[in-house]
Amino acid sequence: MAIILVDEDLCTQCGICSVVCPMSIIDPAADENIFPVVRDEMACMCIACGHCEITCPTQAITLNVRPNEKEECTVGAGTLSTDDLGYYLKKRRSVRHFTKDPVTKEDILQVLDIVRYAPSGSNGQPVQWTIVHDPEDVITVAALTIEWMKTLLSTDHPMAGYVPGLIQAWEHGHDTICRDAPHLLVAHVPEASPIAAVDGIIALSHFDIAAKAFGIGTCWAGFVSMAVLSYEPLRRELGIPVGRTCAFVMMFGHPKYKTYGLPRRNPAQVTWR
Ligand SMILES: Cc1cc2nc3c(=O)[nH]c(=O)nc-3n(C[C@H](O)[C@H](O)[C@H](O)COP(=O)(O)O)c2cc1C
Repeated sequence: MAIILVDEDLCTQCGICSVVCPMSIIDPAADENIFPVVRDEMACMCIACGHCEITCPTQAITLNVRPNEKEECTVGAGTLSTDDLGYYLKKRRSVRHFTKDPVTKEDILQVLDIVRYAPSGSNGQPVQWTIVHDPEDVITVAALTIEWMKTLLSTDHPMAGYVPGLIQAWEHGHDTICRDAPHLLVAHVPEASPIAAVDGIIALSHFDIAAKAFGIGTCWAGFVSMAVLSYEPLRRELGIPVGRTCAFVMMFGHPKYKTYGLPRRNPAQVTWR
């Protein structure tokens, strides 16, 4: 099976597909009768990134990997001014107070549909999601995280000095673990991969950013994320499959409060070499 399909009527033999292929496996047109080709023995190196297809000025190339699933995207769609983009990103904040109004599964899936396009090492797309949608289950996750914290008391774990206050707050009815968020998003990735955990963080960052446009507020759930790595009951509760590990967990829901303006942040620290 050819890994790229070339429409010979459209191909101008410009060679761009060959130049942009990150794996350098596309032989450019050799003469007017020999069009760009991935030789069979090179096809296994294709990472299906689709750059040959989307960079072709005449749309002569189809990547022959699920070819019918190509999403149409009009020229200019998604163009933002630098100001709009800058303020959109600068205005992203962690949300720690949520309304009781649930985020619909449809909205969550729409955001995750955007997140599918996040970068991943060798285009491996290793991230899978567990969504804790029932607020009661989020409370269970927070309670298990507190149980994990109790196992750290009187140990030399770096969190040991920090957990008594969190446990005490929980026992007084304050959820500083999941912030009474209605939902949790868990990114899990293959355990054995040296790079997939980074893919998980990138995908969650895209969720963090995209969710805002849907009126969804987010906050990285650091305590839960630490606990799930070593506390089996929590790993079981979150249903992380065998052979996979949690990259990180994010709380989300509809924000209770609006924000006005921007907080102060340190200037960028740059060294020019
Ligand atoms: C890796 C990571 C873990 C975090 N864990 C928590 C957490 O467990 N609970 C929490 O309330 N906020 C958590 N946060 C949110 C940070 O406190 C927040 O990003 C920071 O204070 C800056 O505020 P901003 O996100 O509104 O700009 C975490 C953020 C990151 C990046």
